[in-house]
Amino acid sequence: MKKIVLFASGNGTNAEEIIKCFKKDSLGTVAAVLTNNSDAKVIDKAKKLEVNTLIFNKTELNEGFVLDKLNIIKPDLIVLAGFLLKFPEHIIKAYPNKIINIHPALLPNYGGKGMYGMNVHKAIFENKDEKTGITIHYVTPNYDEGAIIFQKNVTILDCISPEEIAKKVHQLEHKHFPEVIKKLLTQNS
Ligand code: GAR
Repeated sequence: MKKIVLFASGNGTNAEEIIKCFKKDSLGTVAAVLTNNSDAKVIDKAKKLEVNTLIFNKTELNEGFVLDKLNIIKPDLIVLAGFLLKFPEHIIKAYPNKIINIHPALLPNYGGKGMYGMNVHKAIFENKDEKTGITIHYVTPNYDEGAIIFQKNVTILDCISPEEIAKKVHQLEHKHFPEVIKKLLTQNS
């Protein structure tokens, strides 16, 4: 069975969907949820679904502690699902082509430092864009720059607030992220 490790910093609705998906699918399992935020709602969500959690700080991420933990688990795929810290180069090097991220917009638009979560949806709303979407991509040392694996767009002409845009984007994420993960795990087997 393939092992997935999730990194998340906040609410964890994507993490929850992914965990639930692999509870029903013997292809893989979520071995652990790792977070840099001890107040993150994702911790409770993971615990309720009986998934191990680990809280770490920035130093532990950047100086080896997190890599040591990963090397014990030996994940087949590392998934950033709403993880907001820069991902360190030494982990990227240790797991080439095995780390993916989801971004709540159609990259290369609305990517880069500071462009996460509601900041993205607010910018899109202010620009009066007619559509937005999601991007799933490989992780490189630079924010939002790795090769794109999957994109899906959605019209937002009917959205009258950034929150409504966020809702539509989350729906897309929950529908497609687990499926893309399944596909990647199948390809690598
Ligand atoms: C998701 O929309 C994800 O795309 C975004 O954070 C949200 C987390 O939601 N990620 C980024 O903005 C990364 N740049 P969740 O905690 O409910 O899964």
